[in-house]
Amino acid sequence: MNVHAVSEPAELKERLLQHVGRFVDKEFDWDAFPSNSGFAELERAQMRYIGAGGSPKVGDTTTLKPDHFTLSLIYKEPGKYAACHSHEIEESFLIIDGALIVGWEKDGEVVEVRLGPKDMILNAREIGHGFRNDGVEPVLMSISVDVGKPLPPVYHYHPKEHPPELARSFGAQPGKTMPFDPKGAHPIQQLMSKFVVRHNELETRWDPAGFTRKVYVGPGGIDNDTCRKEMLGVPMGVGVKPFVRDVEDAFFVLEGSLTVGWEEDGKTVEVELGPRDLVKTPAGQPHWFRNNSAGAATVWYVIGSSAPESVVFEKA
Ligand SMILES: [Fe+2]
Repeated sequence: MNVHAVSEPAELKERLLQHVGRFVDKEFDWDAFPSNSGFAELERAQMRYIGAGGSPKVGDTTTLKPDHFTLSLIYKEPGKYAACHSHEIEESFLIIDGALIVGWEKDGEVVEVRLGPKDMILNAREIGHGFRNDGVEPVLMSISVDVGKPLPPVYHYHPKEHPPELARSFGAQPGKTMPFDPKGAHPIQQLMSKFVVRHNELETRWDPAGFTRKVYVGPGGIDNDTCRKEMLGVPMGVGVKPFVRDVEDAFFVLEGSLTVGWEEDGKTVEVELGPRDLVKTPAGQPHWFRNNSAGAATVWYVIGSSAPESVVFEKA
């Protein structure tokens, strides 16, 4: 029983609920990317939480309005790939389940990296990138584009215009694919190594408020001038006092459960999130989180600014 339920102000609660994206309330859209239509090997499904991401379906009213970033899930079955394309802005792939190959292409040469659960790549601006599932299980990943309304992708090697095998290798002719190697001599290998984060190689920082932070993007992680991205580990019973940002942020639960609350005029409302549920909190709204459950929570945290952390979390 939620002890706050009786005194929760209805209007504030309603506003909070309007900023929640529930996995069970959403559907995967198999027709999110018109450029894939007619190509079975490109099939993928998208579930939109914030904005439309790379999809033109910007009018989807079940999706939260984007400010500085979008957030969606992408589902990709074994054997399928996404054709090499580029964007005007950074785009991150955070793997949730499965193993994904991501390729970056330049002048007919491609570097491929294999990413596993909780690994991330930030696809650099204007770099040709594609992905492929060569594994035995489907891939689920969270994609964030670091602008509210991205331009349509520019395709470099789409099977519409290129032989299927060339499109599948992201534009690499036979023998022109290199493995990911931070010590590699090739400029694309060196470039990609600055944009790949391995979860188990990333430093775990204990915030004095009692939870862990792995900084994927932002000061201490990948250098970037758009958004910050972190993975939080919140032990059971741990929570923080209300804090405010001058940009929006979003909690997307990967494992466990997290209670997120909003405060206004000394009153609070809260909502419990389970795996694949999200809350987006607008700029200026005092908010807090707490793990009320018996297990730890793992949470993907996106903040709509690249500025160094301004919040000093206080243990509640
Ligand atoms: Fe992309």
